[in-house]
Amino acid sequence: MTASLADAKKRCAAEAALQHVQAGSVLGVGTGSTVRFLIEMLAARPGLVRGAVASSNATTALLDAAGIPVLDLNEVSQLPLYIDGADEATRAHQLIKGGGGALTREKICAAAAARFLCIIDESKLVATLGAFPLPIEVIPMARTLIARRLEARGALPVWREGVVTDNGNHILDVHGLSIADPRALEDELSSLAGVVTVGLFARRPADMLLVGTDQGCVTL
Ligand code: 5RP
Repeated sequence: MTASLADAKKRCAAEAALQHVQAGSVLGVGTGSTVRFLIEMLAARPGLVRGAVASSNATTALLDAAGIPVLDLNEVSQLPLYIDGADEATRAHQLIKGGGGALTREKICAAAAARFLCIIDESKLVATLGAFPLPIEVIPMARTLIARRLEARGALPVWREGVVTDNGNHILDVHGLSIADPRALEDELSSLAGVVTVGLFARRPADMLLVGTDQGCVTL
């Protein structure tokens, strides 16, 4: 798929998500190239949202540039809606996220939100999660310990060298996982000492998938 075709599908999903944004509300805003289209659309509708909770420093910068007030989640009593992309998604709305390294704050926003809309192009829709390497954010001192634990269960963790998350942590991209039961794997990996966040969004999946396709946006 060419970049411009993929972009058209991402834009289409973002446009569909915009229809769900209530005027005067506070919006949770994810991270990545698909969400970037949403932020452009919000910039073209000044005053549509009262403010936004950002899932990363990168998104904070884009919201600032768009003139959208960025609010601290601690000061927001309600987050009615969170919109974010994903690296992989199933028809059961379970996701792999964290390709952009923002998985921890993304998971917090998803947990806080009454509704979570996931916007993707159709290339992200899969039958089974796991072809995309699973990002795991880890406390730096635990990186090799966690990597050994993952190797012991037959996976191949690759340190995303040079990347430090917004929370000061490291990321392992885990190849070769068989994700037959995403909820069980999310629980298992989350319980390893030193793991901050697993990029599986199965316990709190998206509520709706908006998928950009050749034929327009499809809602699942
Ligand atoms: C960032 C994410 C993104 O949602 C995911 O990587 C998808 O990004 P894009 O919209 O650029 O394909 O999880 O941590």
